[in-house]
Amino acid sequence: MNALRKALLLASTHCLMTSASLAQQSYKDIAPILINNCTGCHHNGGIAFSLGNYSAVVANNVSVKYDLLSNKMPPWPADPNYKHYVHERVISMADKNAIINWINNGMQAGDTSLAPPLPNYGAYQLNGTPDLIINVPKFTSTATTADHYYCLNVPAGILQDRYIRAFEFVPGNAALIHHAVITIDTLGTAVNDLSGGCYNFQGQINIGDFAPGMGPTVLPGVSPAKFGFKLKAGSKFSFQIHVPENTAGEQDSSQLRIYFYPVGTTGIRDIYFQTVLQNWNFTVPANGTRVVTQQYPSGAAGLPINISLYGAFPHSHKTCTSILNYAFKGTDTIPLINIPSWDFHWQGQYVFKSMVKVPSTYRLFAKHFFDNTVNNPNTPDPNQTVFVGTSTTNEMLFDSYLYTYYQTGDESINIDSLLSNDPLLVSTKVPTLTHAESPLQVFPNPCSGLFQVASEQAKLSIKVYNTFGQLVNTSNEKQVDLSNAPNGIYFIVVYNSEQTYLGSARLIKE
Ligand code: HEC
Repeated sequence: MNALRKALLLASTHCLMTSASLAQQSYKDIAPILINNCTGCHHNGGIAFSLGNYSAVVANNVSVKYDLLSNKMPPWPADPNYKHYVHERVISMADKNAIINWINNGMQAGDTSLAPPLPNYGAYQLNGTPDLIINVPKFTSTATTADHYYCLNVPAGILQDRYIRAFEFVPGNAALIHHAVITIDTLGTAVNDLSGGCYNFQGQINIGDFAPGMGPTVLPGVSPAKFGFKLKAGSKFSFQIHVPENTAGEQDSSQLRIYFYPVGTTGIRDIYFQTVLQNWNFTVPANGTRVVTQQYPSGAAGLPINISLYGAFPHSHKTCTSILNYAFKGTDTIPLINIPSWDFHWQGQYVFKSMVKVPSTYRLFAKHFFDNTVNNPNTPDPNQTVFVGTSTTNEMLFDSYLYTYYQTGDESINIDSLLSNDPLLVSTKVPTLTHAESPLQVFPNPCSGLFQVASEQAKLSIKVYNTFGQLVNTSNEKQVDLSNAPNGIYFIVVYNSEQTYLGSARLIKE
């Protein structure tokens, strides 16, 4: 064969292969995208139906495509062009198109056993063993025609003051728990109220909220971001639990799992959760709309001191359709959060990637838009005036912040990277290896920083775990950099479109 023919032939096979591989994306190519963007919630035992295997995805293909095209899933109501947060659930355009094209092309199964295994989802999102588990007493919903609020209290049972670094609220009956507010009653005098009308929080210190889809609260434990919620000896945990109408007879027993700083830890900075922006003085007319604003502090002098905002938790009910928060002084504004399509079902605590300094003399500002017309399918009844109140059919403007007193340099602390490497959060759930028969070639080995893996495959992904099972680094190339990791033995898991390989390697830095 002469050189030219050979080149032409190679070129044409190359073209053929490219177009063929595009058209023939099969389930094994789509599964990793679903694992990265969807199965955290959509798995058996998760908060939504499973999208964890081929037939489940096929069964839901029409709504999967619809929700991707309409940006309904993955749920992330905050506008990423306005402000970025830690753990944003935003799917890339390329990944979105890959799923949609695969559906449009007839959902090729291929060899489904080549798809990467689902991570081993546990019952809890935080690693390790909590220092304190608070079991919320079991109760039975009595909510028939209206939503009910129950207040339940449990003594913390600690003998000395402690600082909370992290907590996770785990509902016993996820379908029943609409929303829970977690407060600390430092006086220890709160009593249970199961009347269904316990509208006021009983604790004096709010540490956070739980709503479906909300992750646990983890504060970085590293100076100068060593933050904590103070829990005084003798306190009670006080839960205000909101259950929807038509749930009478259903039961729940939830759990609060708490991780403390060790006794004697020094340098902890107090962090506070406070609903600074509230407005209880408006109505939304029947078949009408209304813009409601609020600012804090109300006086023109603004904040008396500099503060550092750590996270935002904006809140309204079902007549609300958008929320905007910023800090301002004169015409200067500091963006905080923009939710262009507010959805009562997707509430969340938004943690800033780096803390936001709000200087003294600035004010915080909230604007909520309420649409009580047929244009808003979620408003309870467009023909009724909406009043402020705590029931789901009432409205509220209730925007909270996690904040601390400003210290020089706060705005440059990288909260995102601290949390990405936090041992409570990094994935210790090493997936089960289904095809580990071939040993993985890692070179050089030992190595001083950059490991290469031998693979014929163009598309692969690498995860590196330390001997404690903590995820240390990931990569989508044939190499992974461990120059920031301490010397030691590492396990290297490589997924390519064919197989999952496990190898180990020793890191020795000079
Ligand atoms: C943070 C959790 C979470 C993530 C991440 C997530 N979903 Fe969902 N999804 C839900 C919940 C909760 C529901 C409502 C479930 C129900 O009604 O049973 C839902 C509903 C759906 C529905 C049903 C749609 C409907 O209108 O009823 C589809 C389809 C869907 N999700 C697809 C996806 C896809 C595709 C992804 C990834 C690109 C994804 N979801 C990511 C939590 C999530």
